[in-house]
Amino acid sequence: MEKVPLCLVGSGGMGHRHILAYKELEDSGIGNIDLIAVCDVNPANAALGAREIERLFGRKPLVFTDLEDALAHPDVAAVDVVTDPSFHHTVAVPALEAGKHALVEKPLGITVRACQAIISAAKRGGAVLATAENLRRDPPNRLARSIIDHGLLGDPYLMLHNALGGNDEIIITPWRHLKERAAIGLDMGVHYTDIIQYYMGEYDQIFGLGLIVEPVRRRPAEFDHMLESYRERFKTFPAEVEATGEDSAIALYRMKSGATVQFSYVGAGKGSRTFERSVHGKRGALYAPGDRNGNPVVLRLDGRELKGGEILELLPDFQMTEITERLFGKDVVVYDLPFPPIDAKHMAIEMHDFAAAILDGGAPEVDGYLGMTAVAAIHGAYESAVAGRAVTMEEMLSGEVSAYQDEIDEALGLIDS
Ligand SMILES: NC(=O)c1ccc[n+]([C@@H]2O[C@H](COP(=O)([O-])OP(=O)(O)OC[C@H]3O[C@@H](n4cnc5c(N)ncnc54)[C@H](O)[C@@H]3O)[C@@H](O)[C@H]2O)c1
Repeated sequence: MEKVPLCLVGSGGMGHRHILAYKELEDSGIGNIDLIAVCDVNPANAALGAREIERLFGRKPLVFTDLEDALAHPDVAAVDVVTDPSFHHTVAVPALEAGKHALVEKPLGITVRACQAIISAAKRGGAVLATAENLRRDPPNRLARSIIDHGLLGDPYLMLHNALGGNDEIIITPWRHLKERAAIGLDMGVHYTDIIQYYMGEYDQIFGLGLIVEPVRRRPAEFDHMLESYRERFKTFPAEVEATGEDSAIALYRMKSGATVQFSYVGAGKGSRTFERSVHGKRGALYAPGDRNGNPVVLRLDGRELKGGEILELLPDFQMTEITERLFGKDVVVYDLPFPPIDAKHMAIEMHDFAAAILDGGAPEVDGYLGMTAVAAIHGAYESAVAGRAVTMEEMLSGEVSAYQDEIDEALGLIDS
């Protein structure tokens, strides 16, 4: 097998972005995936995805509306799970058990239990499991990680990670405001808890809470700018959605290294507009620009400030993967591109990494475990508020602490009520 024949499962808003990324991967010259099929329980979305694949690749994909049929097809070796998060385990578990490799969008599962079920299925099926986490693939994040790895800051003792801002509109889809469907505090928060573990290593203790800042979400007045797959559905959304899940997560993390991370993600707040990602050590501090904007990382050392590419003079061994260099250029750590190609390039990198693990027998960069710990770091904040104390990552992963998540697991049939 030179390329992995793959079925996209879930052809909504993000499914369409994945199709663009598969095209980006193919055009890189070292593509290692054949997008041969699309599956969506909503026939209209399946048809939209198929039309897009035919437009971009010049060939008709297989089209399924039933997962069982997709998994039974002998040509399908892998699935890309891009359904809304509360269905990830319902797709990934049977796929992995059937021996199909799975790339699963973040959050890997809607709870730690759902993540565990997916990881166990991968073991049983002997298949590769990767979490589709795209933000860490951004060249500025690669540079920031390299600065830390090379000890330019000394041992980091503190990371500040704060992203605040929004309003009371529905964030993309109504499910992003419902507790049993993966509210935005989790859905967006996991991107940042993955960045934290990418920069700072493993989590140890978690103290925090979740908030519903906006209890009622309104359908936006304007949605013509949205992707077709989102736009059509927006017309069908209710005028108002009562939020049952957190739109915000706030936490203090103690990492295994001994460093502390101050974290807040607030997907609301009409006057709030803050983004801050910085890491502090005795010798220096780095200020990262956020994701998908191509702005420079700033490194401040004693009496010296370097930006973006200037930092490479201190990192003679800095190297990005071949696929990253093909898509962004060698040593390109600052770029000026529109959002769609940036988005597609990041995902093409994660897809290439997934397929390389299948073809070459290695492990994907973000496996099931890291997908799960990113989820546990957000739920840990919510669990800590219920428990009235700090909780440990160990307690989260062993299931010793799960009161907050139990309600979701019961609703989804992951535990008996
Ligand atoms: N990495 C990123 O930057 C990023 C950005 C947006 C969304 N996402 C993730 O992508 C996933 C999908 O988000 P979205 O915005 O596209 O959601 P969406 O609601 O727009 O689309 C979900 C699609 O999945 C389909 N679906 C649901 N259950 C299914 C099943 N059992 N089998 C087949 N199809 C099924 C739905 O019909 C729908 O078409 C989520 O996990 C989300 O967190 C990631």
